[in-house]
Amino acid sequence: MRTQVGIVGAGPAGLILAQLLHLAGIESVILENRSREYVEHRVRAGLLEQGTVDLLTEIGAGERLKEEALEHHGIYLQFDGRREYIAATEITGRSIHIYGQQEIVKDLIAQRLGYDGPLLFEVDDVAVHDFDKHGEPRITYTHEGRQQRLECDVIAGCDGFHGVCRPAIPKGVLTTYQREYPFAWLGILAEVAPSTDELIYAHHPNGFALHSMRSSTVSRLYLQVKPDEQIEYWSDKRIWAELQTRFALAGWTLQEGPVIEKGITPMRSFVTEPMQSGRLYLAGDAAHIVPPTGAKGLNLAAQDVRVLAEALVAWYSTGDTAQLDGYSDRALRRVWRVQDFSHYMTTLLHRLGDDPFDDRLQRARLEYVTSSDAAAKSLAENYVGLPEY
Ligand code: APR
Ligand code: PHB
Repeated sequence: MRTQVGIVGAGPAGLILAQLLHLAGIESVILENRSREYVEHRVRAGLLEQGTVDLLTEIGAGERLKEEALEHHGIYLQFDGRREYIAATEITGRSIHIYGQQEIVKDLIAQRLGYDGPLLFEVDDVAVHDFDKHGEPRITYTHEGRQQRLECDVIAGCDGFHGVCRPAIPKGVLTTYQREYPFAWLGILAEVAPSTDELIYAHHPNGFALHSMRSSTVSRLYLQVKPDEQIEYWSDKRIWAELQTRFALAGWTLQEGPVIEKGITPMRSFVTEPMQSGRLYLAGDAAHIVPPTGAKGLNLAAQDVRVLAEALVAWYSTGDTAQLDGYSDRALRRVWRVQDFSHYMTTLLHRLGDDPFDDRLQRARLEYVTSSDAAAKSLAENYVGLPEY
């Protein structure tokens, strides 16, 4: 088989890229190693920046989102027994939307299959070859028991943090930057109406807690836990008791309900530079990971592929490689802005350890960001997403 762009991975990055290319008349094939069922039900974050909503709408994948997403205009920060509001929309003119990542993935898959766009699930043994500048890139894989080979002009590595594309880049090309955090998130989905109109980010001596939601009947909540925490030790009863402790506020009640999903998410910051090698371009989690506190992973993946698609369109239409050559530099500027913000939100809100000095600094920062217009503006513009970064 031959195509123009071979895309590894049908997460948000791979699917959005394929659609952007399709709209520009560029062919692609997406290879995904999981089943359609699996990728459509994988529970991930669910907060979209205005720019991501606009992008999904532009590419024709915004219809259900427009109907079902919850539009939010700010966030609550809770600490020291008080809950303060950051009025993000009032400050920035932009809003955020709550819509589960797997819903976006469902919409994009339906769209792709709706025009018979090539998208193969349950593909095994994916390997990328010969992608150096003068090579002839190809992807080999097994599908339905048969070995296959896909020849392409370029390869897009959209295969997430544990994918095969990044490790295929020759030694010495990439430099990685990373930070591990001494905690993880325990997340639940619960069948109960959210107890809040907008998200609550709570800093508590026991650790961070987040009250998010998916709809008017489903809540999403998170607790900071130890990095090696075992989910088996967390009965639903224990989870609710801990959530009650961390969100406690006079005059407010956290409603409980049946837990329909629970899991532990590790926290890390990771960037690889550059995000390209020869004719292989990395996008999304394949190139970088942010801790989930700022809810930026999906938004950043969407921006990567927007930049990559523009560069590919320029190259196919003019033969000029300048934009493709500059892909990584352009994408990394935003990646590092978002890394800084995600690290800031993480260290602002989590219990970092036992050092009382750190604790006092955190409180000073929380006081500042909830009392100074300048500090609130900085948080707000990063949270809703910087449009042209
Ligand atoms: N071959 C084919 N597909 C693969 C391979 C492989 N060897 N390895 C991984 N994949 C697939 C995964 O199954 C997944 O569907 O690649 C896809 C990668 O998707 P995501 O992990 O969702 O990553 P990405 O598309 O970059 O989306 C951005 O940021 O913070 C996160 O939750 C956010 O997942 C979102 C991500
Ligand atoms: C979520 O709803 O999953 C979510 C929301 C906000 C975050 C992180 C996760 O900061």
